[in-house]
Amino acid sequence: MTEQQWLNRLSEALLGGLNRAEGDPHRPGWHIAAPVGLLNDPNGFIRFDGRYRLFYQWNPLACAHGAKAWGQLVSDDLVHWQHLGLALAPTEDYERNGCYSGSAVDNNGELTLIYTGNVKYDRERRTAFQCLAVEREFGEFEKLGPVLDLPEGYTGHVRDPKVWRHDGHWWMVLAAQSEDGQGKVLLYQSADLHHWRQIGVLAGSGEQDLGEFGYMWECPDLFELGGRHVLICCPQGLPAEADRYQNLYQCGWLAGELDWHGGRLAHGDFHELDLGFEFYAPQTTLDDQGRRLLIGWLGLPDDNEPAQPTRDYGWMNQLSCPRVLSWREGKLYQNPVPELAALRGEAFDWQGLAVQAPRLQGGRAELELVISGEVRLYLGQAAVLTVNAGGLELRRLNWRSGEWESRRWHGAVTDLRLLLDSSSIELFINEGEAAMSARYFPGAHPEIRWGGAGETRFRYWPLAPVLRQS
Ligand code: FRU
Repeated sequence: MTEQQWLNRLSEALLGGLNRAEGDPHRPGWHIAAPVGLLNDPNGFIRFDGRYRLFYQWNPLACAHGAKAWGQLVSDDLVHWQHLGLALAPTEDYERNGCYSGSAVDNNGELTLIYTGNVKYDRERRTAFQCLAVEREFGEFEKLGPVLDLPEGYTGHVRDPKVWRHDGHWWMVLAAQSEDGQGKVLLYQSADLHHWRQIGVLAGSGEQDLGEFGYMWECPDLFELGGRHVLICCPQGLPAEADRYQNLYQCGWLAGELDWHGGRLAHGDFHELDLGFEFYAPQTTLDDQGRRLLIGWLGLPDDNEPAQPTRDYGWMNQLSCPRVLSWREGKLYQNPVPELAALRGEAFDWQGLAVQAPRLQGGRAELELVISGEVRLYLGQAAVLTVNAGGLELRRLNWRSGEWESRRWHGAVTDLRLLLDSSSIELFINEGEAAMSARYFPGAHPEIRWGGAGETRFRYWPLAPVLRQS
C-alpha cells in the first residue's frame, strides 16, 4: 500500500470505529488501548525531552495481526497519556509486511526509532531488516531505511531491536532464530546507529546450561539493575511443566554478568516475569529519576486472543500499567509506578472476617490487602482470587472455552495489591516479589465479593477513568 492508500484506510477506520470502540463497557478506563483495531507490543518507550514517549504495535485496519504500524502516545506523568496517532506505517518495500517491534533512543537530541522491517515472501519464507526513523517535527518521523540485514546462520526470524547507549557506543540486543531452529539473542555494537557489528550470542536456546529452550526468543531487553545485568526475553516453544510455563509463550528474565567484549551474558536460571495469563513482549526504559520502568502487553499472540468479546466493538488488547523494577535478594521485583496514586478516589478502610466484608464496586479499583487464613475474592463473576497459607490462586473464566482455568503462586503472602480496570487484573504479591496479570470480561457493574473463613484488612480506592482512547 502507498502512504496515501494507507492514510485513506486509516481515516476510514477511525471515522467509523472510534465511537463504537468507546461504547464498549470493557474499554479500559486508565490503561492504554488502541483507538481502533489491534494493539500488541509496547515499542520505543523513552523519557525524551522532559516527557514520556511510548509507541505500540498497531493494526488500525483490523482486529487481527498483520502488517503492523506504530501508534504513538505522549505523557508527562505516566498516568495521563495523549494519543498522537500514527508514527510509522508499513509503506516501503523493506517493511511491506509490517513495521515490527523496536525501541527509541535519544541521539544527541534527535529521537530515533530502531525497528524491524518485516518482509514475507510466502507462508514459509521471510526476511527482516533493522531500520531507522528520526523525528523531524514533534510526532513526525522520517524513515532512513534499513541499517542491518539478516546475519549469516539465521532464518528470517530476526527482529525486535532494543538499543541503548553505554560507554560511548550504541548497543543492540536482537531476537534471532538460528538455522537449526533455536531462539537466540544477539548483541551488536555501533558508533553511529548506521553501521553495526555483531559482538556475540548473548544467550539463547542451546547456549550455556539452558539446553533446548525454545525456537524463538522475541522482544529481548538488556539492562543493568542493582549491579548485575538482566535480560528480559520471550521464549516460544517451552513445554508446559506442573506449575511453570502454563501460557502458550513465555516472558521471563535471566540475570548475570555481561561480558561486553565477548558479547555473552553468564546467567542463572530463567524466571517468569508474570505468573498470570496474559503478559508478553514488555519493554523497559530508564527515566530521569534513574528508575527502570517497564510496560508490557496484557496479551499473548496465537491463543485466546481472536475470541475476545471486544472484537465486536472493533478494538483488541491493552497494555499493562507502567511498573518500576527493582532488584532485591536475588529477585526481580516489580510494582506499579507511584504516579498511579493520582487515579485514586476516596479511600475506604475495612478490617474483619472476610465473609462479613462489604461488597465493593469492582470495575476500576485498587485494593491493598493483608490476609490471614483463607480468603477469597470474587471479581465480577469472571475471576476468583484465593489466598491461603500455601500461596495464591487466580482463577478466571476463559472467554474462548467458557471453562475456568487457574494460575498459582506458592509462598507466604504477606500483602497484596490488586489493580482492576474494566477488563484487566494486575496483582502484585509481597510488595512486588511476584506479579500476575490477566484479561477478564466481567458482566455489567461488576462487584468484588468476599468468601473464605479467614480475615482481611484492606484499603480500597475507586480509580478514575483518565484515558479517552481517542
Ligand atoms: C511479539 C511480536 C514481535 C514482533 C511483533 C509483531 O508479540 O511477535 O516479535 O516484532 O510482535 O507485531
